[in-house]
Amino acid sequence: MSGVGNLGAKLSALRMELETLKIHGHEHIDGALPPDWLDRLDVEEMKPKPETTPASPKAKAQNDSLSKIVSEISECRLCPLCRTRTKTVPGVGNPRARLMFVGEAPGADEDKQGEPFVGKAGQLLTRMIAAMGLKREDVFIANVLKCRPPDNRTPLPAEVEKCEPYLLRQIDMIRPEVICSLGAVASSTLLKTETSISKLRGKFHSYHDTPLMPTFHPSYLLRNPAAKKDVWEDLQMVMKRLGLAIPAEKEKP
Ligand code: URA
Repeated sequence: MSGVGNLGAKLSALRMELETLKIHGHEHIDGALPPDWLDRLDVEEMKPKPETTPASPKAKAQNDSLSKIVSEISECRLCPLCRTRTKTVPGVGNPRARLMFVGEAPGADEDKQGEPFVGKAGQLLTRMIAAMGLKREDVFIANVLKCRPPDNRTPLPAEVEKCEPYLLRQIDMIRPEVICSLGAVASSTLLKTETSISKLRGKFHSYHDTPLMPTFHPSYLLRNPAAKKDVWEDLQMVMKRLGLAIPAEKEKP
């Protein structure tokens, strides 16, 4: 309530008190206020106060934090994957990362360790990051799903629907300048498209207003090393966007 509103409320309370006194036979005070009426008015309350508005989505986001998201994920039971997971895999890295990598879902190694991209594909991702002149600790690495689908099957739409809001909150907190989605599933899931990864890669798209570069998944590169050249092109576009120096030819992954 504003200061003026408060004052009005106090005055009507005092008026009601006067009426009560009159009803109880105190006619002699008719028209008069109680002797302490001035003390009973809180001067601070009379000062106009800024109108309070309900918390905006931005204000709510400011109350969010990466550790809060991690702890919510650790207790998440929004989909059946909670029954088969060993550990949740929320994501790791620099909370102020300029670059975020997003894969599909944890595999067996990640499910055991609670960290994304730690298996063979993860080791290749670490080398890709190094080729960009960065370390794993400089970037943020996450997945669309925070729990492993049994037998590494493709995430179901219902699982994505429940889990993607965690990723969006992480992006809101980290505010990366660029997201690099790894593989067909992560890229088409985030971009809500059926276009193939070969057509999506090589150009920037937008994911909730953040530039997103889709590229091949490191596990695809393990099976098809010839595609490393395409990934390196994609990563160089990311580096240019971030103003990072492109290393000499012999240093590429
Ligand atoms: N593949 C992914 O998409 N994510 C991981 O964390 C590991 C493998």
